[in-house]
Amino acid sequence: MKEVGKIWMNGKLVPFKDAKVHVLTHALHYSTSIFEGIRCYNTRDGPAIFRLPEHIDRFFRSAQLYSMKMRFSKKAITEAIIKTVKTGGFKESYIRPLAYYGYGTMGLTPSPNKVDVAIACWKWKMGESKAGKFSGAKCKISSWIKIDSRSQPTHAKAASNYANAVLARMEAVENGYDEAIMLNSYGKVVEGSAENIFIVKDGVIQTPPLSAGGLGGITRDSVIQIVEENGEFVMECDLERDDLYLADEIFMTGTAAEIKSITQVDKVKIGTGKMGRTTKALQKSFTDVVMARDERFLPWLTFI
Ligand SMILES: Cc1ncc(COP(=O)(O)O)c(C=O)c1O
Repeated sequence: MKEVGKIWMNGKLVPFKDAKVHVLTHALHYSTSIFEGIRCYNTRDGPAIFRLPEHIDRFFRSAQLYSMKMRFSKKAITEAIIKTVKTGGFKESYIRPLAYYGYGTMGLTPSPNKVDVAIACWKWKMGESKAGKFSGAKCKISSWIKIDSRSQPTHAKAASNYANAVLARMEAVENGYDEAIMLNSYGKVVEGSAENIFIVKDGVIQTPPLSAGGLGGITRDSVIQIVEENGEFVMECDLERDDLYLADEIFMTGTAAEIKSITQVDKVKIGTGKMGRTTKALQKSFTDVVMARDERFLPWLTFI
């Protein structure tokens, strides 16, 4: 990672290298942090942050699920994000807001500690280096079961949820795959390690409902709205492992991944084994939207 620009910490912009926390920070020991992942695109009308209010809302919902007392309003965090991006001078970037129980007392109960907030931003070019994004990724059904809301709030984008995701990703990569697909304790398909999942079967686009345990992805929501705006629909329904093997196309969605084609699950080739027509068309539509080339979705962009 290039240490460029500044990181916003509790209201102050500090040099990238100096954005440090104490080793006894509560979140380091007990995973008590929540975060966001946001993209800023270099559109023809200048840099624009994609669906910023929706990311801010999810950030605050995640904080609420961990009873975090935020010292900053939604408006203040929004302004801080814009300031951090502008200070870095990036045209295309990834933005990482983070809220965490900080340093103070050590013990399981986090509430005596203040909730610290940081916003980092780094350069991220569109379509860069995501395994298989265009060529088609190979996925492994994880042997790790997706955590569910009986254990932890799955609607929170919380660090603690990612221990499960990291194990799944490591298992997939160590076995020669690009990405993991997670099933829940009922054997239903949930999502990738950091992406939502869709299949296309006989021309119908399908995705698991959020009740399966996946994160309410903003890219997932964007894809559903784009498809609907184009006069079609996405069916939300439980999917089994078999549905993956029998799908004509599979793709994943996420802020980092955008729309990523999946062409193999375990040892099974999906469809033709190449990126499918629907996935390709959606990749194009999505790129048009984030690059401000689709008038209908301009309200999703915050120009900075
Ligand atoms: C577990 C998980 N599911 C889904 C997503 C996709 O969410 P979004 O489209 O908001 O980036 C992410 C990425 O944030 C994720 O980490």
